[in-house]
Amino acid sequence: MGDMGFSWPSVFVVVVVGLVLNAAVVCNGGITSAFVRRVEQSVDMPLDSDAFLVPPGYNAPQQVHITQGDRVGKAVIVSWVTVDEPGSDTVLYWSENSQIKNNATGIVVTYQFYNYTSGYIHHCTIKNLEFNTKYYYEVGIGNTTRTFWFTTPPEVGPDVPYTFGLIGDLGQTYDSNATLTHYELNPMEGKTLLFVGDLSYADHYQFQDNVRWDTWGRFIERSAAYQPWIWTAGNHELSLAPALGEDIPFKPYTHRFHVPYRTSNSTAPFWYSIKRASAYIIVLSSYSAYVKYTPQYQWLFEELPKVNRSETMRVMFESWFVQYKVDVVFAGHVHAYERSERISNIAYNIVNGLCAPVNDQSAPVYITIGDGGNIEGLANNLTEPQPKYSAFHEASFGHAIFDIKNRTHAYYSWHRNQDGYAAEADSLWFFNRYWYPFDDSTTNHSLSI
Ligand SMILES: [Fe+2]
Repeated sequence: MGDMGFSWPSVFVVVVVGLVLNAAVVCNGGITSAFVRRVEQSVDMPLDSDAFLVPPGYNAPQQVHITQGDRVGKAVIVSWVTVDEPGSDTVLYWSENSQIKNNATGIVVTYQFYNYTSGYIHHCTIKNLEFNTKYYYEVGIGNTTRTFWFTTPPEVGPDVPYTFGLIGDLGQTYDSNATLTHYELNPMEGKTLLFVGDLSYADHYQFQDNVRWDTWGRFIERSAAYQPWIWTAGNHELSLAPALGEDIPFKPYTHRFHVPYRTSNSTAPFWYSIKRASAYIIVLSSYSAYVKYTPQYQWLFEELPKVNRSETMRVMFESWFVQYKVDVVFAGHVHAYERSERISNIAYNIVNGLCAPVNDQSAPVYITIGDGGNIEGLANNLTEPQPKYSAFHEASFGHAIFDIKNRTHAYYSWHRNQDGYAAEADSLWFFNRYWYPFDDSTTNHSLSI
């Protein structure tokens, strides 16, 4: 209901970005966890691991995963890979209360990366689904078929309870497997996963062995075939290898993971937005240009007013995040966990010398959640003493849950892999910046200088 004529409901605004957004360093902060973990190297699971099992049967669909296919959650993009032959691009689908099978037809793509040739990668968008409905879907029509299911979200609205999971920098190590298992068994039951970039870490291998993209696709299928994973590109998706003749950025990522970027008027799959239940989710890419007048900058400039609540990327966009009262910014890349206070640097200028972040109740909470458990291991060099802007930090693997209760409250929790499935290592009640803009910090110290 704003001056631009948009009438979006006021919801929790979540920004997801594939790279940590740096904050300036000041001292005497919040909680440095006393948790002590075993120091172990992170090792990728072997190719013949159970986590990567190839489904049996001729041309059986594998690496099945889904994501939101439109602006509001009435469409789903179904993706899968066949290896023996292209096979059918058709998806059969039906709601749990119906015997009538509908069908939708998609596309198939392949790509080469140096000496690797991909399987047949299918993408099919199922449209015009009912909200809040369980659907079954079947792929592999004509050869070995496999059936999965998903539940569509409720209609977009500010008071719709909805639970998101958060995982970043996952990779495919034994720790990655523990993270995914903990997410699946968390009793808070995330219904949609916001993935904060850095997926397979295939680029860790010689020639960026894309077989490790296939194993990753099979690894995540047990979750991603049944609930949408909302994709963000990180630096490990760049996949640039000029020495191998590979100079097209994001080639494996863009062939394997389709996103509904056009529905938010984006011109590239690396930045886009969706609405889902009670959240307005803005996906940004630190690895695509974002300085003034680039397409991503221009898109965000036009995007943020639609929310209508009525050095780094953070520096670039921070004033917009504050102006439009973004509730939370999730970022990956640093392999640790950290939650900030609501802080901003927008008062900074050369004359006033205000160079440290200040407490700002209009600012987002910044959460670094690059702790999925990939082969690069943990970032143990957390800034000590803990900076004042930092409410909680710890170098452990884990995942988080963002559980929106209604227009004013969301319960957030972070879960480390070593704990029981229900344990919360860090938690916070978020108060919506538009509907209930009261102080929701968990540590009692003033950040003003
Ligand atoms: Fe990473």
